[in-house]
Amino acid sequence: MTEPTIRDATEADAGSLLAIYNHEVLTGTATLDLEPRTLEGQIEWIRRHQGANPVVVAVVEDQVVGFASLSPFKERAAYRTTVENSIYVAAGAQGQGIGNLLMTEILARARSHGFHSVIARIAGDNPGSIAVHLRHGYELVGVEREVGRKFGQWLDVTELQLLL
Ligand SMILES: CC(C)(COP(=O)(O)OP(=O)(O)OC[C@H]1O[C@@H](n2cnc3c(N)ncnc32)[C@H](O)[C@@H]1OP(=O)(O)O)[C@@H](O)C(=O)NCCC(=O)NCCS
Repeated sequence: MTEPTIRDATEADAGSLLAIYNHEVLTGTATLDLEPRTLEGQIEWIRRHQGANPVVVAVVEDQVVGFASLSPFKERAAYRTTVENSIYVAAGAQGQGIGNLLMTEILARARSHGFHSVIARIAGDNPGSIAVHLRHGYELVGVEREVGRKFGQWLDVTELQLLL
């Protein structure tokens, strides 16, 4: 595989992000969304992810194969030093180190913007996602039992945290 590069996402990446994300919406439990995102919704999401709340993409041979982002953790003002991360790698590109590259970059961004804490909330049974977070120093906060329901199953959410 050609070495992936990591860069900031632009609105032109919306279709690629949409394809990666909606695959998980429709086939998996990594996201508790039930309805696919629209292209307009994805463009709006990219517009909201700039500056201290970036979205970065991994690119292999001009194809976007994954993304990672930092979103505000909660609205109330005193939570502003904490962000929540998300990370998605295209189904055909998983297990090749792209998740590690994206995580390294998004944590570098979190540090450079001066955040104090990053939260990951991992839905369902997702050993791959838990592994990549633990690999980067996150620790278990706890498990919210059966807070989601998708495909006729109750889903736990595992919360992990990294203090920067
Ligand atoms: C979770 C995900 C982001 C990981 O990305 P990836 O590119 O597949 O991961 P990498 O190949 O970079 O592997 C990262 C580390 O996790 C480990 N890992 C990856 N998948 C694993 C699995 N299923 N079980 C155990 N460990 C796993 C790797 O061994 C590696 O550890 P190492 O660096 O110590 O060798 C990716 O699989 C994905 O997008 N899955 C679907 C969507 C999803 O679940 N997103 C997370 C939502 S919370």
